[in-house]
Amino acid sequence: MSATLRVKVWRGGADGAFREYEVPRRESQTVLDVVTHIQRAIDPTLAYRFACRVGMCGSCAMTVNGAPRWTCRTHVDKVARGDRLEIAPLRNLPLIRDLVADMREFFDKWARAQGQFKGRRTRADDFERITPGSDARKRADAAIECIGCGVCYAACDVVAWNPDYLGPAALNRAWTLANDARDAANPERLRAVAGDRASLACHTHMSCTERCPKALSPTAGIAGLKRAVARAALEGEL
Ligand code: SF4
Ligand code: FES
Repeated sequence: MSATLRVKVWRGGADGAFREYEVPRRESQTVLDVVTHIQRAIDPTLAYRFACRVGMCGSCAMTVNGAPRWTCRTHVDKVARGDRLEIAPLRNLPLIRDLVADMREFFDKWARAQGQFKGRRTRADDFERITPGSDARKRADAAIECIGCGVCYAACDVVAWNPDYLGPAALNRAWTLANDARDAANPERLRAVAGDRASLACHTHMSCTERCPKALSPTAGIAGLKRAVARAALEGEL
């Protein structure tokens, strides 16, 4: 193993270019460690984003050797090609600068997919509970561990072709709420995810499911939404 890594990093805005850095290679080094080394020891003007460093916050996602990944849990040994790494911002999102993509439209689409929980109870009521271990709980839990990293969105070719498409993460969130027995907004939600800018646009390429670092399957959730939309349409609820 070479003692150093040759790392190409995207610098600037959409019209920027890759710049190459030499970074010492270390045992158990993550891609986020590499970016942090560049920013702290070589070039303090490099912009990037991270918070938790343990795979919980979803803020560190970047394109590593051509594929979107969470960088804090991606070991260099797994992705380096010899001594080479290429690190770029997530695709399918506007670029702010360097490795920082603008996530606003990604989260705006969660709102358009009715990704907010709407309960039936008031502040004066006790919490509504779903029994742990019940089928209802398992259904609601199946896709709930999303950390909002945007990896699936960056991996999705349908988003690349059709920027209005809500994308896998927003639809995965809608599916989670559609399966939450406490949620009261399902009719509006199914209308929000019914069109050809929503669940019907999915071509089942599976890139989101292949790349999701939390091993979720937005593809399965989108298929579930398609079935729920068809059922609601047949029953005259849409
Ligand atoms: S579904 Fe997976 S890849 Fe997509 S935002 Fe959530 S955690 Fe990230
Ligand atoms: S820094 Fe939080 S998920 Fe990577």
